[in-house]
Amino acid sequence: MQPMNHDQAPGTLVGVGVGPGDPELLTLQAIRALRSADRVAAPAIAHDVPGRAEQVVRAAAPDVEIIRLVFDMTPDSTPGGAEARDASHVSAAAAIAGWLASGETIAFVTLGDPNIYSTFPSLARAVARLHPSVRIETIPGICAFQALAARSGTVLLDGTESLALVTALDGTEHLAAALDDPERAVVVYKGGRHLPAISAMLESRGRLAKAVMGELIGMSGERLEPVARGARREASYLATVIVPPTSRGGESAAAGTASAPPGEVP
Ligand SMILES: C[S@@+](CC[C@H](N)C(=O)[O-])C[C@H]1O[C@@H](n2cnc3c(N)ncnc32)[C@H](O)[C@@H]1O
Repeated sequence: MQPMNHDQAPGTLVGVGVGPGDPELLTLQAIRALRSADRVAAPAIAHDVPGRAEQVVRAAAPDVEIIRLVFDMTPDSTPGGAEARDASHVSAAAAIAGWLASGETIAFVTLGDPNIYSTFPSLARAVARLHPSVRIETIPGICAFQALAARSGTVLLDGTESLALVTALDGTEHLAAALDDPERAVVVYKGGRHLPAISAMLESRGRLAKAVMGELIGMSGERLEPVARGARREASYLATVIVPPTSRGGESAAAGTASAPPGEVP
């Protein structure tokens, strides 16, 4: 498809984060953006199957009309998988570019935050290729790991500790490197299938005791457990693991040492 004319109405594409699953974690700003958009689109695996982000919006703002855009989810390992996925991206981008051509504002909803491991950036790039004058904006969403920290009573970071957010779709390689620093909290996304291997690695590094996992957080079928217990069986794709830093010694998570510069209330 040819890029459209620069003189046309710019149109705005807004990636709207809807949080991890609990409709109460959809922000007021997100709801305002959804209600004021000309169209709201949501990713789906089929036209007759609502996606997770759509379900969150339906529960929080049932008045918002949602258009499903089908995204192929065939894994790379399946022959033709990457091509099928690319083709579905291109056709979703073409639909959005068509609406933008008349100057519309299109909201595209994503689980969690649109700038963290989301379909939105690659979709936005594909749309910009077809409609170069598009304005791209995002509205932040609460991430699954934040919800898991809250639900499990885990202080994720304190003082000078740092955070690594890694993925484990193909195994524990990235996790291994991230665990080297005891002052680093590690969050693992996309690791449900490898939960038993993640648990074994945490145990061998002395990091298992305080690690927690959450599957389908805020959704039906939710499972929240210490990794030591939950790793007896694999979890689905929508599973998150938090490994707190070990350098806090014997302190309980809730008794962290909140510190702030002079004059600032922590
Ligand atoms: C494609 S990433 C999407 C991340 C999302 N954009 C965010 O900001 O949290 C998918 C991964 O996010 C995590 N995730 C998202 N929602 C979740 C939920 N409700 N419960 C558990 N994990 C979730 C899982 O690790 C999953 O494999």
